[in-house]
Amino acid sequence: MVACSVGLLTRLSLRVQRSQVQHPLRRLLSCPGTVAADLRREEQSSGSAETGSEDRTPKKRFSEVQNERREQAQRTVLIHCPDKINEKKFLKFLSQHGPINSHFFYESFGLYAAVEFCQKESVTSLQNITRTPSLGPEAAIPFKSRYLNLKLRNSLNQTSELSSIQCSNQSSPSSKKLYQLLCCAESVDDQLNTLLREFQLTEENTRLRYLTCSLIEDVAAAYFPDCAVRPFGSSVNSFGKLGCDLDMFLDLDEIGKFTAQKTSGNFLMEFQVKNVPSERVATQKILSVIGECLDQFGPGCVGVQRILNARCPLVRFSHQASGFQCDLTTNNRIALKSSELLYMYGALDSRVRALVFSVRCWARAHSLTSSIPGAWITNFSLTMMVIFFLQRRSPPILPTLDYLKTLADAEDKCIIEGHNCTFVGDLNRIKPSRNTETLELLLKEFFEYFGNFAFNKNSINIRQGREQNKPESSPLHIQNPFETSLNVSKNVSQSQLQKFVDLARESAWILHQEGKDRPSPSSNQPWGLAALLLPSVANNMSLSKKKKKPASERIKNLLDSIKSSGAENSTATNGRRAISTQA
Ligand code: GTP
Ligand code: MG
Repeated sequence: MVACSVGLLTRLSLRVQRSQVQHPLRRLLSCPGTVAADLRREEQSSGSAETGSEDRTPKKRFSEVQNERREQAQRTVLIHCPDKINEKKFLKFLSQHGPINSHFFYESFGLYAAVEFCQKESVTSLQNITRTPSLGPEAAIPFKSRYLNLKLRNSLNQTSELSSIQCSNQSSPSSKKLYQLLCCAESVDDQLNTLLREFQLTEENTRLRYLTCSLIEDVAAAYFPDCAVRPFGSSVNSFGKLGCDLDMFLDLDEIGKFTAQKTSGNFLMEFQVKNVPSERVATQKILSVIGECLDQFGPGCVGVQRILNARCPLVRFSHQASGFQCDLTTNNRIALKSSELLYMYGALDSRVRALVFSVRCWARAHSLTSSIPGAWITNFSLTMMVIFFLQRRSPPILPTLDYLKTLADAEDKCIIEGHNCTFVGDLNRIKPSRNTETLELLLKEFFEYFGNFAFNKNSINIRQGREQNKPESSPLHIQNPFETSLNVSKNVSQSQLQKFVDLARESAWILHQEGKDRPSPSSNQPWGLAALLLPSVANNMSLSKKKKKPASERIKNLLDSIKSSGAENSTATNGRRAISTQA
């Protein structure tokens, strides 16, 4: 994904705090009473990947985090800068419009700065002195967004003052670097935590995701004032890897809520609206105009595709400045609720994210997952499998969804399209697990558990935290936690499931053997997680697997895979989401 190339140079106050030396300019620009302090706390807690450490600081609700980040993004502008710039003068120029809370630079086919003002008015003030460019023979479509372009006046006079901004790379590490890091680790637990640290979204990357949503919201607001564009999926559920796509939800309910609050007395006022035959048609129409709008007027939005016949209609595009591949949907509130649920599970125990990241990376290394639609297992399904496995430990590491529902209060009540999506939102009301198993043990047991799972008759169900009889004949059945009659892994073919099972068994065996006879760190041999992840190892393993199978079986598997992905594409239509959101 494009975002892999994004390099970021952080000038955030939280980085400064880490090194305990505060930049004078930062002191000048930081303003108290903003979300910066909270974000600092959050970064510290999300950055701590220590197994078994019990974090007693109060944890924020998902909705609180979302609202704060959204508000922060609304005070932020994105500026395309010349390659060389005098940072001090740049900030001084901007601070004429009001104090700046934080800023960072990053590279994505050019140098960009994300600048967060303390107040929203500063953004308006900056926009008021910003002009629409004159482009010679080409004509510009005037649009006052928060995505700006900085030009140098008299650049020749300024040359001596300009300096290159050094951008630190925020992309995930290369295989070689990962190999070195994993081999230098002290234990398998340390390896899993290292992998999490290296791959998880950075603070700046997360800010950029909320900012991108906020910029798209400005475009959508041209049609639907008061709408909200909210990120969901791995950008916010705490399982996102650097480079993952940006799933966005166009929330039009905000408009209804706003008017409902104003209604009082004996009269009820309603908007005159156009009626269409179904909710689906309404969604298609809304996404069609927003897609058109992004394509025609959305600064930096390129490659806009309207995939309206998919089960979950969407608009897909690249946001050039951030480098994110974006999927915009609407009428998809359950997916937002699923993101909240995963966020809760990820925050309940520090082992959860480390395990999910390793399993996701393991699956990617062995081509069990893919960015192309098909009969492959998805990251969402893998995460559900890890959650289920952790619910099955003794004592359990994670509670069941039914238990989380019993802790809910009136504020948590949530019914979406007739589905009961209620569960407790306050993380602090859930007792930490007494289970003290190591990550090494859990990873090994995960592979053993699913290497021997009765997929032919049992379904995975995180609502009840126990296996259930499969209600239908799909090879892999993972019950959708909210729309319980649906299977989130309906697309997975028998041959892909078999590949998963074979690799899980082989990986359990490798970890088991290593437990007995681990190579010394100085031997430079891949061990532990490195032995399971490295592409060379993955290739060797799949090669040895291929050797074991007769050619006829390999061809049959290939045909099965093509057949099932072809069937899915023809029924579920275009786009990855046609597969991934089929349940
Ligand atoms: P990445 O692979 O890192 O993008 O993970 P992701 O969790 O963001 O997955 P994806 O972009 O495919 O989907 C975004 C969100 O849509 C998920 O987090 C889920 O909340 C939801 N989703 C994805 N697939 C399914 C599915 O098969 N069924 C249901 N109900 N929801 C899904
Ligand atoms: Mg995603």
